[in-house]
Amino acid sequence: MRHSRVPRWWFAPLGLLCTLAIVLLAGCSGPYPQSTLEPRGDFAEMVDSVFMKTVYLATVVFILVEGALLWAVFKFRGKPGDPDPHQIHGSTVVEIVWTIIPAVVLAIVAVPTVETIFSTAKVPTTSTDGQPPMKVEVIGHQWFWEFRYPELGITTANELHVPVNRTIDLRMKSNDVIHSFWVPQFAGKRDVFPNRETRLWFTAKVTGEFPGACAEFCGTEHGRMDFYLMVDSAPAFQAWVDRRHADSTMQFNGMPMHPVVAAAGQAPPPVDTLVAEGQKLFQSKGCSSCHSISSMHVLTVIGPNLSGIGSRKMIAAGWLPNTDANLRDWIEHTQKLKPDVLMKLPMPVSDAEVTALIAYLRTMR
Ligand code: CUA
Repeated sequence: MRHSRVPRWWFAPLGLLCTLAIVLLAGCSGPYPQSTLEPRGDFAEMVDSVFMKTVYLATVVFILVEGALLWAVFKFRGKPGDPDPHQIHGSTVVEIVWTIIPAVVLAIVAVPTVETIFSTAKVPTTSTDGQPPMKVEVIGHQWFWEFRYPELGITTANELHVPVNRTIDLRMKSNDVIHSFWVPQFAGKRDVFPNRETRLWFTAKVTGEFPGACAEFCGTEHGRMDFYLMVDSAPAFQAWVDRRHADSTMQFNGMPMHPVVAAAGQAPPPVDTLVAEGQKLFQSKGCSSCHSISSMHVLTVIGPNLSGIGSRKMIAAGWLPNTDANLRDWIEHTQKLKPDVLMKLPMPVSDAEVTALIAYLRTMR
């Protein structure tokens, strides 16, 4: 009787290999917006370049070592009846050779690594668009991100708008515990501390919306401390800045305004009655004791700045899509959706009142 060419004991490893290949290949379809392997800025490209050089070198080492291993396995395979092979103990030459080779490999890897450590440590003095780098202060809070643009007089939260091709010079701090700022496609993780400033920079090369996250366990809601990096074209960024300055002209609890926005004067009161009611409720129900609705820089608040909340992509720190239904759910059941978060309604609000509040929040674009 003729047996099949493939021995039976091959089936299990073959099956395992095929399954593994399918799983691995499934990983090749995209898109993966949180992948560090798809850099979209200069900083991330520099880091990626070190990574790829290491991968290529490791591949060469792998092929040489595994090749030698396989060659030895087949070349010196024992046959039944062979005597015990000649026993060797210790070889100075071999010991020296296999100590020197890895040392040389590590030295080769060290060159681009050290070079990149130094080149990523200093912020470029000029951006690719010819402008000086733009300063942004990042403040980590349990559990949201605050962003301040000192040169523009803008404060916002959970959505970091930047112009494409402009180097962004981040000065980062924490309001409470240690967090870690991370936008995988633009730069590595960097911890933010309550008592000292850390720096990071990047220049975005393409426009788009890129998710970021907190990468350091910072309490029960650490997993829901996300944000978005919005890379705008130069005109789109300017339009966003202009809108922020316009909404900053709304007087807020008599607090002083940033000089940049104070010059723009007062905004007229809303004409829509539902919106006007929402605006009143925002004050009378105590929302305004934690949230600023203006992007003016001088104000320090407890909760996220809501400037432009009506047109943000997400709410609840990059976690829920900004729909009316989610906004209602968030206002009415904050503690259920994100237990332990600081937001607790100071006084109850009815469904109708939430409708008015949403109408008001939607006007801030
Ligand atoms: Cu903030 Cu984790």
